[in-house]
Amino acid sequence: MSEAQTLPQFSVLPRHVGFIMDGNGRWAKKRGLPRSEGHKAGAKNFRKIGEYAADLGIEYVTFYAFSTENWKRPDEEVNALMELFSEYLNEVIDRIGENEEKGIHLKFIGDKNGLSDELLNLMDYTEKLTEDKKKVTLNIAINYGGRHEIACGVKEIARKVSKGELSPEDIDENLISDFLYTKGQPDPDLIIRPSGEYRLSNFLTWQGAYSELWFSDILWPDFSTDDFNEALRAFEHRHRRFGGI
Ligand code: FPP
Repeated sequence: MSEAQTLPQFSVLPRHVGFIMDGNGRWAKKRGLPRSEGHKAGAKNFRKIGEYAADLGIEYVTFYAFSTENWKRPDEEVNALMELFSEYLNEVIDRIGENEEKGIHLKFIGDKNGLSDELLNLMDYTEKLTEDKKKVTLNIAINYGGRHEIACGVKEIARKVSKGELSPEDIDENLISDFLYTKGQPDPDLIIRPSGEYRLSNFLTWQGAYSELWFSDILWPDFSTDDFNEALRAFEHRHRRFGGI
C-alpha cells in the first residue's frame, strides 16, 4: 500500500494485534500442492499483512510462525519453514531501504534453543539492523509456546529469588510480564485466527488474557487486507471491560 489516503479510517485501532497464521496446509491440499507451497503462500501473505498493519499505524503486530509443538511435523516440512524464515530475513537485509521507510522493527519471540546458527545469526542481525525503527514492532514468534515462555520466565525469577536479587513479595503481574519475551510491549488488544479453528493454541497465553478474539473461516494464505479491515471494524465495536462493568 503506497497511497496513505486510500487507507480506511477507524475510530479506534488496536495498539497490538496478534495473528495465528493457520490453514496453509489445507490451502495447499485444496490445490493438490505440497504443504510447503502452502507455507510459501502463507509467508507471502505474512509480508503483505505486516506491511498493511504498519501502513495503518498499528504499533505492535505479532505473527505466530512456528510453535514449540511444530517440531513434531515431518523434517521436510520443518526444514521448508526454516528455509522460508531465512529467505525472508535475507530479503529484509537486501531491502532494508523499504523497511526503513515503513519504520518496521523486527523482533523475535520464542526459545532460541534448537534453531540453527545460520537462522540465529540472521535473527540477531535483522533485529539489530531494525532496532531504531520505531513506527511498528513486528514480532515473529519462532519456536514459541505460551506456557513454555511462562515457565522460562518463572525459572528466571526463581533464580533471582534464590540469589537474593528479588524477594517473593516482589512477584506480581507486572514483574512476570517483564520476564516474558514481550517485555515492555502492550498486551495484544486483538488476536486474529483464520482457518475455522476456534482456539489459541498456546499463543500469547499470558499476554492474551484480555484480548478480543476474531475468528474467520478463510485460510491464512487467502486472508486479505479486506478481511483484516473486517476484524478491525468488529474491534471498533467491542466494549472492553477488563472485568469492570
Ligand atoms: C499453521 O498452518 C501454520 C504454520 C505451522 C506455519 C506458519 C508459518 C508461515 C505462514 C510462514 C511465515 C513466514 C515468515 C517468513 C515469518 P498449518 O500448516 O497447520 O495448516 P493446516 O491446519 O491447514 O494444516
